Amino acid sequence: MDRRNFLKKSCTACLSLTVISSMVSSCISTKYVTGKVGQNGIAIDKDDFKIRQKGGTAYSSFVIVRNEILKYPICIYRINDNEYTALWMRCTHQGAELQASGDVLQCSAHGSEFNSKGQVRNGPANIALRTFPVTVTNNEIFIDLRKQS
Ligand code: FES
Repeated sequence: MDRRNFLKKSCTACLSLTVISSMVSSCISTKYVTGKVGQNGIAIDKDDFKIRQKGGTAYSSFVIVRNEILKYPICIYRINDNEYTALWMRCTHQGAELQASGDVLQCSAHGSEFNSKGQVRNGPANIALRTFPVTVTNNEIFIDLRKQS
C-alpha cells in the first residue's frame, strides 16, 4: 500500500468512527420524570438517573422533570451521587423553552447556551438560568420550589 492509499483509508476510517459515535450518542434518549409533588417542591429518585447497561450501572448526566404544576420543565444535572443542580429550562433571553443536549442547555430560538450550572456559555442571553436548591436524603432528591436564585 502506498502512502496515498494509506492516508485515504485512514481518513475514511476516522470519518466513519466519528459518524458512528455521533449516531450512537444521538440515540441515547432523554429521560423525563414527573416526580412526586409535595407541599414545598418536587422529589425524584436517585435511581431515575440509572441507565441499564451490560456489565454494571451507569448514570445519566441529567434527567428532566416535567409536571403539570410547572410552567417550564426543570433539568436536574447529576454532579456526583450527592450533588445535583436544578435548572429552570426557560431561556433568560426571551423565555423560550430550552433543550438539553449533554451538559449543555440550548435555546433553539436564537442560539443561547447554558452550562450544567446555569451559567451562560453563548449569548444572546446574558443572565444565568434560575436555579432551585436541591437536597439529597438517602435515595431522594428534593427540589425546593419555594426558593430560587
Ligand atoms: S429566547 Fe433563547 S436565545 Fe432568544
